Amino acid sequence: MQNFIYYNPTKVVFGKDSISKLSTLLPSAKIMLIYGGGSIKNNGIYQQVIEQLEGHDWCEFSGVEPNPEFETLMKAVSMVKSEDVEFILAVGGGSVIDGAKFVAAATDFEGEPWDILAKGAKVKSAKSLGCILTLPATGTETNTSSVVTRREYNLKLPFMSEHVRPQFAVLDPEVTYSLPERQLANGVVDAFVHVIEQYLTYPVNASVQDRFAESILSNLIDIGPQVLMSKDYELRANLMWNATQALSGLIGAGVPQDWSTHMIGHELTALYNLDHAVTLAIILPRVMQHQREHKREKLLQYAERVWGLSRYDEEGAINLVIEKTEQFFRDMGIKTTLSEYDIDSDVAEKVASRLEKAGKTKIGERQNITPEDVRKIVTASL
Ligand code: NZQ
Ligand code: ZN
Repeated sequence: MQNFIYYNPTKVVFGKDSISKLSTLLPSAKIMLIYGGGSIKNNGIYQQVIEQLEGHDWCEFSGVEPNPEFETLMKAVSMVKSEDVEFILAVGGGSVIDGAKFVAAATDFEGEPWDILAKGAKVKSAKSLGCILTLPATGTETNTSSVVTRREYNLKLPFMSEHVRPQFAVLDPEVTYSLPERQLANGVVDAFVHVIEQYLTYPVNASVQDRFAESILSNLIDIGPQVLMSKDYELRANLMWNATQALSGLIGAGVPQDWSTHMIGHELTALYNLDHAVTLAIILPRVMQHQREHKREKLLQYAERVWGLSRYDEEGAINLVIEKTEQFFRDMGIKTTLSEYDIDSDVAEKVASRLEKAGKTKIGERQNITPEDVRKIVTASL
């Protein structure tokens, strides 16, 4: 196992009616409620939150888009400054929470906030924030990451900082009842691929991380198709907690991490506006195939422990487990090839040259995926 420091101080308040505890979590400071395109008004969450804000000094900012847009977030930064906001309350999915994280960092940033994303400029402080998650998927509710899009430049870029980790995350599984099938499916697939990116690398004798990762993968395979058909509370509760743990930092501590599927996926979203999880479902099976020799040991472990396949015929087991993984995404209702989204072959060149231009020329856990490999992976995804 590799050395690591593990620290995740986000307070999780989980379960039915947990939004009713919000007022006890909020500081007595000026609060900005930030949310997306209005789903929280249609499903009653907004009303529940407003009741909890009674007695607090607060203002609101709405309209954070899926794949949150830099320009929009900079308007929120202006509002934080003009209203003297000291605490940001994000209510929404990954986009709203990621957006709030960027707002929190950009407000305190001395210099051009775009540099946080474009140049990896260090975030030295940020406004405090807390969140109410409405879409189990990204894990952003307890982690230090945020991904922001700037459509003007066709760019989608991440940043990470301990300063933007939410102080609290309210997780009420009942808020998922209003999610459309597409977003539920996206959530399952995104969480699944988060686990894979931290697990399907090479063995380092990290038994807790491996077994924990395998249990999340098995759970998602089991729960995924069921949540599309049922509003059963227990299913939704398990989906939510599995998705949080998929990217809370625990299974990624002390192990090599891949993230090539995400890097390629972000380019596809920036170029074609595909949903984040859709890009992952398209790219992951091709990364598995392309890296099958480098990932051999873990592919066999994954095949055996998660899918119950025998190692007797190693090549056969690897072929089958890649097929099963892709079929799982398709069973979730997500198409897994680029041509099914009417994207043609020049995509491979576009994605490879964008990553190259951004200096991402050696990606994956072994830093062995070059732009030429990306070209092959994307071509195989057509
Ligand atoms: O905008 P509203 O009206 O809230 O509607 C949203 C949005 O249209 C809707 N929605 C959310 N909760 C709902 C709901 N509709 C009905 N009922 C509810 N309870 O769902 C739509 C999609 O929301 P979005 O937040 O965009 O989805 P998701 O949570 O999948 O977030 C995706 C973003 O997170 C980033 C992605 O790149 C993408 O930008 N990620 C963030 C990560 C992180 N911070 O750690 C890691 C991930 O790998 C990912 O990159
Ligand atoms: Zn993701």
